[in-house]
Amino acid sequence: MVSGYPIKIPMNLAQRDRKVLWHPYTQEKTAPPPIPIIRGEGVWLYTEDGRKILDGISSWWVNIHGHSHPFLNAALANQANELEHTMFAGFTHKPAVELAEKLVAILPKGLTRVFYSDNGSTAVEVALKMAYQFWLNCGGRKRRTFVAFENAYHGDTFGAMATSDKSAFTKPFQNLLFKVLRARLPNNCGKKKTKGIEEILEKNHREIAAVIIEPMLQGAGGMIIWEAKFLKKIRELCDNFDVLLIADEVLTGFGRTGKMFACEHADISPDIICLSKALTAGYLPLGATVATEEIYQAFLSNDRTKTFFHGHSYTANPLACAVGAASLELFKHENCLEKIAFINQKFNQFAAKVSELNCVGKARAIGGILVIELLSENSGYFADIGQKLYQEFLVRDILLRPLGNVLYFMPPYIISESEIDWVLNEIEDVIKTLSTKKTY
Ligand SMILES: Cc1ncc(COP(=O)(O)O)c(C=O)c1O
Repeated sequence: MVSGYPIKIPMNLAQRDRKVLWHPYTQEKTAPPPIPIIRGEGVWLYTEDGRKILDGISSWWVNIHGHSHPFLNAALANQANELEHTMFAGFTHKPAVELAEKLVAILPKGLTRVFYSDNGSTAVEVALKMAYQFWLNCGGRKRRTFVAFENAYHGDTFGAMATSDKSAFTKPFQNLLFKVLRARLPNNCGKKKTKGIEEILEKNHREIAAVIIEPMLQGAGGMIIWEAKFLKKIRELCDNFDVLLIADEVLTGFGRTGKMFACEHADISPDIICLSKALTAGYLPLGATVATEEIYQAFLSNDRTKTFFHGHSYTANPLACAVGAASLELFKHENCLEKIAFINQKFNQFAAKVSELNCVGKARAIGGILVIELLSENSGYFADIGQKLYQEFLVRDILLRPLGNVLYFMPPYIISESEIDWVLNEIEDVIKTLSTKKTY
């Protein structure tokens, strides 16, 4: 070096990231460097260093049609050229109306009023506030509490955390969370002393604004699958005790459980449904809370204090709504429900096969989700096995992010048969090693 100037070696993305960013759910002190992704196509994510990784968790359960889909790209570009955003109080626009019309047409019967927000947590937050104020507007001042289930996860904002079951996610904030009546899961078998939903409603129904559930499947709580008859029973109980039912379909909506909405498994309609994640096929953040006409009517008044005073700067963002509407078109044209049924068939066969392995506690599938509960020294979110499996699958170019000892595979619906077979083979290979060598 003759000039005397130090040579500047350009930093790669991961190094630049480390200097300025703070990642979600990440212990920044011990986590390995983040993997820079520079492109996505179909089920594949392409890394800065030239690898391609199969997105086996649909990028946190949002992606359904694959990455960078030409039809959705065009819808987004067209909308950006027309109108990128306008506030939604006192204004409206075509993408918001079109998406709402499409949603109302396919949602369980009676859900007719769409209220937009930004993500799954805000969709839940809006639902809780709506249910609470509904009773106030109706003159029922004592409806001060909610019923939620053991193991539930409804998001990370305060109302969503309060209705979620206690966990490492909520622990630091526990004193700030409002009280919720916690109901037992049907498969709990009396492990804890949590009361059953029937008993809770019988005793407390006059104080309860709503019951909130993740229909058919509790996702973040460990991919626990419920029976449809339990969901049906909850609807009946809510009707009998005159309590609102909120279905948090942030994860289960748009085909994940094999039906367009999980409530369809039990042929029920909730009073309020929360949607997000696959609503925009993984393109843009958007939440929708859809209520019945009865709830909407309770907010109509000459008394302005009965207004629903909730909103976000980006409420009904036109770009997000345009992609959401395009995604629903694609869902129809590409026969997504048939694709999910095919995926489900393969997953069920595989679940039956691996259930025989001595490291597998339970293996099951619902819709386009395969769940394998592994026996390990620890269970739950912090079980070491989860991190090890995550790394092992990454080495094999597959993104799977186990919830502790619960391994799941939830690909975009466009995954091909050979891609499914390849991932299932890799899963079998990894968990067989687990059975024999006990390396984890
Ligand atoms: C059932 C359910 N509700 C709410 C949320 C929160 O959604 P978001 O992460 O978009 O805030 C999630 C996220 O995983 C979820 O699974």
